[in-house]
Amino acid sequence: MGSEARQGVIDRYREWLPVGDRTPRVDLQEGSTPLVRSRNIGPALGLSALYFKYEGLNPTGSFKDRGMVVAVAKAIEEGAQVLVCASTGNTSASAAAYAASQGMRAIVIIPAGQISLNKLSQALVYGAKVVQIPGNFDAALATVRDLAEHYPVALVNSVNPYRIQGQKTAAFEIVDALGDAPDYLILPVGNAGNITAYWKGFKEYHAAGRSTVLPRLVGAQAEGAAPIVKGAPVAEPKTVASAIKIGNPASWENATLARDESGGLIDAVSDTEILQAQLQLAAAEGLFAEPASCAPLALLVRLVREGRIERDSTSVIVLTGNGLKDPDAALGNVEPPVTIDGDARALAKVLKL
Ligand code: F0G
Repeated sequence: MGSEARQGVIDRYREWLPVGDRTPRVDLQEGSTPLVRSRNIGPALGLSALYFKYEGLNPTGSFKDRGMVVAVAKAIEEGAQVLVCASTGNTSASAAAYAASQGMRAIVIIPAGQISLNKLSQALVYGAKVVQIPGNFDAALATVRDLAEHYPVALVNSVNPYRIQGQKTAAFEIVDALGDAPDYLILPVGNAGNITAYWKGFKEYHAAGRSTVLPRLVGAQAEGAAPIVKGAPVAEPKTVASAIKIGNPASWENATLARDESGGLIDAVSDTEILQAQLQLAAAEGLFAEPASCAPLALLVRLVREGRIERDSTSVIVLTGNGLKDPDAALGNVEPPVTIDGDARALAKVLKL
């Protein structure tokens, strides 16, 4: 490392955030994730510039850390001692980690049997109290909103405006890295906080003269959990992309505003397309992202083929979560390891060298 220690989101973008002298220094060195240029998929599609914002390299393995650090710092500043959230997995891991780092209590409510073991293990090992409830994420969110209204706990889901404030820094980083905003920003949409945050970030930077253009925001939902695409809540959302298995997004209106103001779109992709995109991303680029994070790549491939994304444009896909968080579905689509009991000769034979 150089002489300058890497800064977390609050220090790097302090003047853009609602923080002051009384805000505690919460920092797990989140943010500053790589913007990786596509070596193979972009050229194969004939795209002149395709990038991946690799958010899976955040401290707990997803973009949630950017918003959580600000939400937790502000909660402490305002006197909170207990954090609470509903989650499909990543928010709970992030809340648990930041609570641990600050010696706070975290309570996470999850839909029973519906989140990946890896994400669940993060929350447990960081020391959160994990409570499972029957039903889906939407029911869990309704429960914690009710809890936070009546008890002294700080709600750190993305309905907390400080989460959005922190998450907007990803848009700043993209503009800082490219020197301008891209033409398209493509990301998964679940509870719709992140698309809200990106739009806020791009607009703020643009208003301050940091970019000359604003991107079109393109949101990807899973076919079985696509309330915004369908225009109506989905009572029983279904998808392999468990992170975005959400039937009634809290930031629905802000998502449609971001889509419409930016001239973008929100569309759905099938689970098959998502899993194909996951393998393609890993095998062609060396980037492993969880299923929800691969929905945007599946959508991009379709939009380029249909001529709805111009080949001379610049696109950024947000890889929201690390593939290690939820490897089960991917493992169903790859060859299992071979077992041999022998010497180099036997190995060479198996490898057809
Ligand atoms: N990608 C991943 C990996 C996620 O974990 C989430 C949301 C999203 C995309 C969608 O983002 O909700 O802002 O539209 N996960 C939440 C959670 C719901 O509880 O971890 P969004």
